[in-house]
Amino acid sequence: MNRRILLIAGARPNFIKIAPVHKALSAVPGFDVKIIHTGQHYDREMSHLFFDQLGIPEPDINLGVGSGTHAEQTAQIMRSFEKVVLDESPDMVMVVGDVNSTVACSLVAKKFQGIDVAHVEAGLRSNDRTMPEEINRLVTDAISDILFTSERSGDRHLRAEGVPDEKIVFVGNVMIDTLQHHLERARETGTVAELGLKERGYGLLTLHRPANVDDPTVFAPMMEAISRISESLPLVFPIHPRTRAPYERWCADRGSRPPGIRVQEPLGYLEFMHLTSSSSLVLTDSGGIQEETTVLGIPCLTLRDNTERPVTVDEGSNILVGRDPEAILSAATETLAGRGKKGSVPEGWDGRAAERIAAHLRSCWV
Ligand code: UD1
Ligand code: UDP
Repeated sequence: MNRRILLIAGARPNFIKIAPVHKALSAVPGFDVKIIHTGQHYDREMSHLFFDQLGIPEPDINLGVGSGTHAEQTAQIMRSFEKVVLDESPDMVMVVGDVNSTVACSLVAKKFQGIDVAHVEAGLRSNDRTMPEEINRLVTDAISDILFTSERSGDRHLRAEGVPDEKIVFVGNVMIDTLQHHLERARETGTVAELGLKERGYGLLTLHRPANVDDPTVFAPMMEAISRISESLPLVFPIHPRTRAPYERWCADRGSRPPGIRVQEPLGYLEFMHLTSSSSLVLTDSGGIQEETTVLGIPCLTLRDNTERPVTVDEGSNILVGRDPEAILSAATETLAGRGKKGSVPEGWDGRAAERIAAHLRSCWV
C-alpha cells in the first residue's frame, strides 16, 4: 500500500522548497502525496504565482488561515490542520523551512497519534532566540523523526542537541534544486531588459525581517545607507508586504523618495531569479536569497548580525554586514570596486537534494 504523505507549505519560501520535493516523490512509486497550503501567505504574488511558475499542482487543501499575531496564526493553523489530519490519517507529515506553518503542523502531527514528522532544512541555527524562526526551528527539530539537512552545520547542531545519528540525513539544498531546474527559463523572461536595466548595471534589495523593518530607529538609518548606495548603483526593490508601510513612512518622514531605488511589487520566482543572476550586488535579509546568490556567485551583503546558513559565508559569496550604516556602505563600496566575494558551491547543492529525500524515504519504507 502506498504511504500517505501530507506536504505542508504556507509562505513564499516554502513553495520554492516543496516544488522539487513534490516532483521527486511523485516520480517514484510508493507514495501518495497531498499538498496542504496553510494560507499563511495569500496574495497572488506571494503564493499562487509560485504554483503556476514552478508547476506545483494546486494544493489539495487550503486552510486559508491568513495573517495574525504569532499566537493567532499558529493556533489557527493548528486548529484547521488537526481536522485535516483526522480526515486523512497520513503516515507522515513533511514540513519545510522555519515559518509558523512549519512548527504549527509539526506540533499537530506529532501530538496527534504520534504521526511521523519529516523536516526538510533541519538543523539550521542562528543562535538568536529573538528571531521567531529560530524558535520554530528548535521546536520542529526537537519533535521530528527524520531531519533532512541542507548544509553540514545542520548535522553538527542536531548532534550537539542530542539527536541520534540515524535520524539525521544530509541531502543538500532543495531550494537549489528549484534554482537549477528553472534558471534557463528565468533568463528567458527577459526581465532585465524589460525593466530597462543592463547586465551587472544594478543591484537588488529585499528586506522583511521584523528586526530590520518593524523598528523605525533601525530601518531609517539602514535605508539612508542604502539610498546612498543607490546614488551610484540603481537598486531594484521588490517589496515584501510587511515592508510596504515602514518604507512609505520612511519616505514620508524624510520628505522624498530616493530616485535610485525602484520599488516593485514582489516578483515571480522566474523574474526575481533573472534579476538576481544578472545583478552586480544583492542586499538582503532573506534566508533563501543568501543561498541562491552563493550558487550564482553573486556578491551578497546580508543585513543581519547572524545567519543560520553559515556555509554561504564560509564557502559562498555572502558577507554578514549587519545593520550599521557605515558598514553597509563600506561593504557595498568594496564590492562595486570589484572586490566582491565570489565563493564556491557548497556540498550537496547540486540540484538533486529532493531525489535524495525520495530515495531515503523509499529505503525506510520498502
Ligand atoms: C514569514 C515568515 C518568515 C519568512 C517570510 C517569507 C514566520 C514567523 N515568518 O514572514 O520566516 O522569512 O514569511 O516571506 O512564519 N502579508 C500580506 N500578504 C500576504 C502575506 C502577508 O499582506 O500574502 C502581510 C500581512 O500584513 C502580514 C505581514 O505581511 O501581517 C506578515 O506576514 P507573516 O506571514 O505573518 O510574516 P512574514 O513577515 O511574511
Ligand atoms: N523571491 C521571489 N520574489 C521576490 C523576492 C524573493 O521569488 O520578489 C524568492 C527568492 O528567490 C527566494 C525566496 O523568494 O527563493 C525567499 O523568500 P523570502 O525572502 O520571502 O523568505 P526567507 O527565505 O527569508 O524565509
